[in-house]
Formats: sequence, structure tokens, C-alpha cells
Amino acid sequence: MSTQLETLPTLRELLSIEGKTAVVTGGAKGIGEAITRRLHEAGANVMIADLDAETASRLASELDGGRPGSAVAQACDVSDSSQVRAVIEATVERFEGIDILVNNAGIFPFASLEELDVELLDRVYATNVRGVHMFTQLVAAHLKAERRPGRIVNVCSIDSLHPSGAGLAAYDASKHAVWGYTKTVALELAEYDIAVNGVAPGGISTPGVAAMAGSNTDEIRAAGSGVPMGRWGEPDDIAKAVLFLATDLSTYMTGSMVVVDGGKLLQ
Ligand SMILES: NC(=O)c1ccc[n+]([C@@H]2O[C@H](COP(=O)([O-])OP(=O)(O)OC[C@H]3O[C@@H](n4cnc5c(N)ncnc54)[C@H](O)[C@@H]3O)[C@@H](O)[C@H]2O)c1
Repeated sequence: MSTQLETLPTLRELLSIEGKTAVVTGGAKGIGEAITRRLHEAGANVMIADLDAETASRLASELDGGRPGSAVAQACDVSDSSQVRAVIEATVERFEGIDILVNNAGIFPFASLEELDVELLDRVYATNVRGVHMFTQLVAAHLKAERRPGRIVNVCSIDSLHPSGAGLAAYDASKHAVWGYTKTVALELAEYDIAVNGVAPGGISTPGVAAMAGSNTDEIRAAGSGVPMGRWGEPDDIAKAVLFLATDLSTYMTGSMVVVDGGKLLQ
């Protein structure tokens, strides 16, 4: 046992992703920003691919200032195939490869069954499902061609497993889809040493949630009171789980979902 322990990597080594490159979609704000910050702190180069080009560039400049040559941003709508391809090409050119993909960009508009027209349904699917697929397909092809081990983390939701309320039929359908997609793609990529896992956040305080609640933070806090751990989640609660799935702390995991919800699904 002691011999084996001596050969095991140290915790510091397990946590380090120095020299690796991560692409984070929707990485400029909210959960995505927290993920970008933690992956960068753990040593990775980061590509922030976000609709909000200005905020993404600001974050990339800040991170790059701390470690020159380590962070870039590119405007990208994940539902647009040419923009997705451009992000992959720019990342490979800039950092000579990709090792980690975090599919985080997602939208969650409220609409009752009566209000949910097919245009809105298609829009939710285009971002939450099509975007995940296009990034995953291109990154997986790159990893296989380069014979690189890889990590893909899909930001799902507790709504991938159980509805959290009325008015989210399109969102819940899309997030169930991403979870199903995660498991099958994990099966297809396991033999190439490419792990594909999901994270299921519960309610997390982000700009997107604040906008959805009409910037009514009291309403958001009140909803948090129904969480067994007694609070809303913070973006960094999710970033830490993503970091676990992106590092060698999770070497024997694929097709798994890490639920990070303060106990919400227990109710
Ligand atoms: N906040 C929560 O309570 C919660 C709970 C469960 C799951 N999630 C999931 O976490 C992810 C992030 O959520 P959030 O609350 O941080 O959202 P947010 O709205 O606060 O931030 C989303 C980020 O993604 C970007 N984005 C949106 N659409 C995009 C597109 N088409 N292409 C590229 N970038 C795009 C935005 O510009 C923004 O920077 C989503 O997939 C969401 O479904 C969030």
C-alpha cells in the first residue's frame, strides 16, 4: 500500500491543468465566468466564447494580464455553426490544441404551454442542444485526430432530471436532451480517453437568473429558502464541480452527472 501511495500523484498534481487549453462557452458571465476563472487559476489557457463579446474581452484581458498569453475571447453564438467552427480554429491556432471543453452557454426563458410558440422552442434548442452538439462534435474530432485525451463537461441542470417549476417546458426538454446526449457521447468517446460528464446546478445567483426574475433579488432569495442548505448557489459552487471533472481528480468518470443543488432534488 505504501509503495502504491508513493507512486500516486500529489493533490497539487491532480488539480493542475497547466499547459492544457479549455474552451468555455458562455464563459463571460454567471456560471461560465466562474468556470473560466477556476480553470485559468488551475493553470489552463482559456478561450472564452460568448455572445457578449465586450464582457468576454474584458475578462480575457484581466486573466491575460495575470499570466500573459493565457486567455483570449471570441464573439460567438453557439447556435451558429460557422461561428462555432471559427472558435475551434482560433483556439487551435492560438494555443496549439484543445484539451477541455465546457458547454455552458444556455438560455432559460419562461413560457407557459400556451405561450410557448415553436419559434421560442427552436431558439431554446438551438442554443441549449444544437450548440452543445456542434462544439462537442468538433472538439471530439480534434481530440481523436490528435490522439489527445480530453474532458468535456456539459452544464446541464437539475431540470435535466426533475422539473423545477411551471413555464420551463422548452428549457426542461432541452436540458433532458443534453443529459441524454452526454451519456451516449460518453459511451462513444470512452475508448479514446475522452471523458464526457455533466454538472446539474440547482438555483444559482447569476445575471441570467436576475434578469429572469426582473432583477427582483428578494424574489430570488425567497426561492432560495426552499433549498435544504438554505441558500441559493453561487457560480463558484458550480465552477468547483467543473474543475473536478476537468482535472485528474475524476480519472475514472464518464457519463456521470454531478448534482450541485444544496439538496434541492431531495425534496
Ligand atoms: N443559474 C441557474 O440557476 C442555473 C441552474 C441550472 C442550470 N443552469 C445552466 O447554467 C448555464 C449558465 O447559466 P447562467 O445562469 O450563468 O446564465 P447567464 O445568463 O447568467 O450567463 C450566460 C452566459 O452565456 C452567454 N450566452 C447566452 N446565449 C449564448 C449563445 N447563444 N452563444 C454564446 N453565448 C451565449 C451569455 O452572454 C452569458 O455570458 C446555462 O446552461 C444554464 O441553463 C443555470
